[in-house]
Amino acid sequence: MTFDVLIHGGEVYDPEPLGRADIGIRDGRVAAVGDLAGASARTAIAAEGLLVLPGLVETHAHMLLPFAGTVTQNDFYDGTVAGAFGGVTTLIDFAAQLPGQPLSEAIGQRVAQAQGDAVVDYGFHLILTEIRPEVLQEMEEVVRDGISSFKFFTTYRKDQLYVGDGDLRQAFARVAELGGLATVHAENDDIVEQAIGALVRAGRTSPKHYPLSKPEISEVEAISRAILLAEEAGTDLLIRHVSSARGAREIRRARGAGQRVFGETCPQYLALTDEVYGRADARNFLVHPPIRTEKDRAGLWEGIEDGSLLVIGTDDCAFTREQKLCSDVFTEIPGGMPGIETRLAVMYTEGVLNRGLSLEALARITSTNPARLYGLYPRKGALRPGSDADMVLFDPEPAGTIRAGALHGKADWTPFEGWPVRGVVRKTVSRGAVIVDGDACQVPRGRGEYLERGAPGTP
Ligand code: URP
Ligand code: ZN
Repeated sequence: MTFDVLIHGGEVYDPEPLGRADIGIRDGRVAAVGDLAGASARTAIAAEGLLVLPGLVETHAHMLLPFAGTVTQNDFYDGTVAGAFGGVTTLIDFAAQLPGQPLSEAIGQRVAQAQGDAVVDYGFHLILTEIRPEVLQEMEEVVRDGISSFKFFTTYRKDQLYVGDGDLRQAFARVAELGGLATVHAENDDIVEQAIGALVRAGRTSPKHYPLSKPEISEVEAISRAILLAEEAGTDLLIRHVSSARGAREIRRARGAGQRVFGETCPQYLALTDEVYGRADARNFLVHPPIRTEKDRAGLWEGIEDGSLLVIGTDDCAFTREQKLCSDVFTEIPGGMPGIETRLAVMYTEGVLNRGLSLEALARITSTNPARLYGLYPRKGALRPGSDADMVLFDPEPAGTIRAGALHGKADWTPFEGWPVRGVVRKTVSRGAVIVDGDACQVPRGRGEYLERGAPGTP
């Protein structure tokens, strides 16, 4: 047997544990997995002592996001290079409908931003903000063209992103009709705005007061409302960036009743607690929803263990420290934090080493599950014959420390500064090409291909 590339001797997760195996790659795809001793290849890569995992599928990141009067600093080149250093081989970012805008235009503008820049394969979810009859009509074409997931916000009224319940109900019915996936940023806008008003009147507007503006109930109520509306519509539903134990519980309850509801959470909610809002740099940790209590953190890990939360996104927003310094009033500070590059190290250390998460589960929540849910499986999210040869060669041994100075995105800080972690990405492979090799990113700008996605599968 002859291959273009042969990766030999790694501990392979396809995502199931295959033990020590070789992977033969032809024409950018996995051609064979197993004992390939005796096979030849133009390029041989030694993976002895390394974990070989399906390339990470990042389904929640915001390149060049206009938000809170500013814009995230990573373009599709910077952001996907940073991701590639963290093992990411697929990115699904967002296109957003602006007021009055046809959907095709919103998508076209985002594709134009990514094309020629992204170094990993990419696609988009579509954020819907205006649910008009012609929009509902146009959604059919959007799904036909390979965008099968939609995002709705139940908050951010001031940013013109809010969608009310009647519109949500109509849109969910349409998503169900088209066989797509509804995804929701779930926070109750009225509860949040009233809490903000009370804090402003009391002069409690510094970053340390921010979490008080978003009590747990603001998330729990919005999650349960979205679940009810999705149940009536019969649509598949994913709740974005779940931050609370009770939020995870709502999802667990619905799943227990047989509803197709899925939860996403992020490393910042799993690894940090609200003590960050007592720090001098509290403003940096302003993220929507806020980072919550130790009890919530424990409840989210339970959600990972029981499968209520089965996707890890990062909600990567590369805002710099200077951008975060724009105001001392929390309502004016852009929400969001970088994370696309640190996801694997944090999840491996916090999940696998500290909490006994299996490596198979790690591969599933960071790659296979999002690939299935967002209609990319088995092209992405697997290391099986026929899959794209996207993988990360991860050395589980070295101990290190996360330092912003060693990261590659445009944010000049990381929420995990100084964190002791184990494991390092040795190589990231995209469609058979080594795009990250140690400290070097050796991929031509724009190598990433646009991904048309199918109907949501079952993780
Ligand atoms: O704080 C956050 N999460 N900013 C990004 C926008 C969003 O809500 O996803
Ligand atoms: Zn969000």
